[in-house]
Amino acid sequence: MEEKRVLVTGAGGFIGSHLARELYKQGNFIRALDIKWDGYIEDKYCSEKLTLDLRDFSNCLKATQGIDYVFNLAANMGGIGFITEVGADVMRDNVLINTKMLEASLKNKVKRFFFSSSACIYPTYRQASPDIKGLKEEDAYPADPDNFYGWEKLYTEKMMEAYNRDYHLDIRIARYHNIYGSEGTYKGGREKSPAALCRKVAEAADPGEIEIWGDGKQARSYCYIDDCVRGTIILMESDYTKPLNIGSDNLVTIDKLSDIIIKISGKKIKKKYNSLAPQGVRGRNADLTLVKKILDWYPKVSLEEGLKETYKWISAQLKNTKV
Ligand SMILES: NC(=O)c1ccc[n+]([C@@H]2O[C@H](COP(=O)([O-])OP(=O)(O)OC[C@H]3O[C@@H](n4cnc5c(N)ncnc54)[C@H](O)[C@@H]3O)[C@@H](O)[C@H]2O)c1
Repeated sequence: MEEKRVLVTGAGGFIGSHLARELYKQGNFIRALDIKWDGYIEDKYCSEKLTLDLRDFSNCLKATQGIDYVFNLAANMGGIGFITEVGADVMRDNVLINTKMLEASLKNKVKRFFFSSSACIYPTYRQASPDIKGLKEEDAYPADPDNFYGWEKLYTEKMMEAYNRDYHLDIRIARYHNIYGSEGTYKGGREKSPAALCRKVAEAADPGEIEIWGDGKQARSYCYIDDCVRGTIILMESDYTKPLNIGSDNLVTIDKLSDIIIKISGKKIKKKYNSLAPQGVRGRNADLTLVKKILDWYPKVSLEEGLKETYKWISAQLKNTKV
């Protein structure tokens, strides 16, 4: 990317910190912003750090002052347990952040605005079985997201479209599908399935047992963080203003995902199923035809390689915290 003044919101979080690090390495001026800093990246990855709450409009104005590109990743979010349980706070906080960030970006004449939408915007009726076809961008309507988080993301996609049409704000929208990797949340209730399973396996005795949420037959596809960051930057550099999937089309059941992690650990571990735990839609996969055509982007890191890195990092974290 040609050198820019870039704001990354949510830069204390998982994707934001990795994205900021890559953009900083490429020589951009990086203003990293978050409401709190519990990210795990230790090396220097920004030119400037701001600790601000983006639900407040005056903070959004401060954040976007003198900025060319905004990557708006700040959100109140978490894995399936969190977004199944929390509705009002997620919708209120995220609609406030996104509305005020858009308005402030317009006032401060930001050149381009990126929004991290989600596979959660896709309708429940297209995700009713584990052997589901990949979701194409056009499948979003008629809308029926599975949870409140997905409804807010879909609303913000539309609001972006309106700012683009009425005020000519230059926009980019990625629909992320289950991004995972090292240096991300792995404990505390907001972690997603790959991190949660890596933690459970790393903590289990050998021989031992882990709990699987649901019956293990629910299926997902997972995209490694390095591929996600690469795709995000290519999308921002492109001239495509409609939503694009950034994910993987390698569909696996939670059972298979757990088996890969157990194999990586080298431990003998049994799986115990908890049918009362939240498990979301039955099957969700990404169709990458459009993103391949528009951006010439496709994920490079295999699930096995990505999980190996993630498992290695999470087990090292657990060893350190136990010392
Ligand atoms: N991780 C995924 O698989 C995935 C999938 C789909 C979409 N997304 C989207 O990508 C973005 C980044 O996700 P992530 O996995 O890095 O999440 P994350 O929770 O690690 O990062 C989000 C960050 O936003 C910050 N934040 C929350 N409220 C804020 C506020 N009021 N003001 C300022 N900062 C605030 C949080 O402190 C957190 O550090 C989010 O918008 C998320 O919805 C992620």
